[in-house]
Order: sequence, then C-alpha cells, then structure tokens
Amino acid sequence: MRARKRKHSAERLCAAAEVLCYDKAAIYENPESPFDASRPLCLEIGCGKGKFSCEMAEAHTDVNFYAMEKVEDVMVCAVEKAMAREGGARGNLRFIIGDAKELTEWFPPHTFDCIFLNFSDPWPKKGYYKRRLTYRVFLEIYKGLLKEGGILRLKTDNVGLFDFSLEEFEAAGMEVVKMSRDLHASEYNEGNIMTEYETNFSSQGMPINFAEVKVK
Ligand SMILES: C[S@@+](CC[C@H](N)C(=O)[O-])C[C@H]1O[C@@H](n2cnc3c(N)ncnc32)[C@H](O)[C@@H]1O
Repeated sequence: MRARKRKHSAERLCAAAEVLCYDKAAIYENPESPFDASRPLCLEIGCGKGKFSCEMAEAHTDVNFYAMEKVEDVMVCAVEKAMAREGGARGNLRFIIGDAKELTEWFPPHTFDCIFLNFSDPWPKKGYYKRRLTYRVFLEIYKGLLKEGGILRLKTDNVGLFDFSLEEFEAAGMEVVKMSRDLHASEYNEGNIMTEYETNFSSQGMPINFAEVKVK
C-alpha cells in the first residue's frame, strides 16, 4: 500500500493513544495487559487502514485483537477508524506500529489463537520472495507465536502469492485445513469480514483465495 504523507500524523497518533501500544517490554511481559479482560487473542499483520480489525473486534467482543502495520501514515487511518466507532472496537482492539519481522520482540511464545494475513504485499518479482509474509522465515515466527492448535488465516487476490504460500506452508510443516480459490462462493464465507482490499478486488469480480492452516 503506497502511503500518502498524512498531515500531522504525530498529533493524530497521540489523539488515538488509547488504542495504540508502544511499550514492547510491557506487552511482552503480559500481552493481555492493554485489555480490560482476559480473552482469546488474535493478531492481524499488515492491517492497512484497519477496516477488518475494527469490524472483527465489534463482531467478536469475546476475543481480544492486536493489529500491526509498519507504515505510520497508514496506521493513522486505522486508529482514527477505531476511535470513531461507537462502543465497539476500542475495548478489545489494540494497534502496534511495527514490522512483522520484530514480532518476537513484542510477544512471547504461544500467545495467539489466530493470526490473520489479509492481502499481504505479493512481491511478484522473483528476487523479492523473501519479503513475502508467507516466506518460511515468517512462518517460523508465526508458528512460535501460535498456541497449540492455533490457526493462521490467509486471504489474497494474488494467485502467485497464494500458490507460493501453499508451498511454504508445506515446507514449514503447516497443514491446510480449509481452502478455497473463491472464498465468497464457498462454504467458508459465512461470517467473513471483508478488508479494504477485499472490498475493492471483489467489486471488480476478482475471486478471493483463502486458506486456514495449523501446525501439523
Ligand atoms: C496490500 S495492503 C493490505 C491492507 C489490508 N490488510 C487490506 O486487506 O485491506 C498490505 C499492508 O501490509 C503492510 N505491511 C507489509 N509488510 C509488512 C510487515 N512486514 N509488517 C507489518 N505490516 C506490513 C503494508 O504497509 C500495507 O499496509
């Protein structure tokens, strides 16, 4: 996602301090500490402008959510979206400005019940495959962060990234338990919450690839 330089991002992030986490050590010590109750924990990596995480948090008030995004100016939109929502989201959703490669500095092993990767950058050029968020080095990070029986869910419009991810799951010892090359026409669509990119791609008639995987 190309970020336009947003005006006054520092002030705008400050105004949303209630939903932002900066203290790595405190989160690592107790990932439940920013929330008012202990609940199952989920993480979205690369949350973009935050539609998915805000709507998930509202739809699942019995779950706590973290949403990570590496581009500060994009995060401004996400946190403002959460702050603007009446009643929901703010109680059980927290945002982290950071890169997925630093996840093990933020969270101890076996923290998450579910990790979401939604429309991750496909990095189509061959030489850039190590940057894909389903490259095996990232999968090892996610495996370490998932609780026993925890799941990873991937959605993408990009067939190249999806095929690559399936190979990487296999190489990383992760089992595909649900899969569809057309999520919206499949049995797995019930309760699906669309991301910004998903809304855009599906309005153009593009099928959405979906996989749910767990550690074998
Ligand atoms: C194509 S956008 C998709 C945004 C959103 N998930 C959606 O589906 O609408 C991918 C997002 O992932 C973020 N991103 C890419 N690599 C990342 C990384 N290593 N760590 C955290 N965020 C990352 C990008 O900055 C961008 O906002």
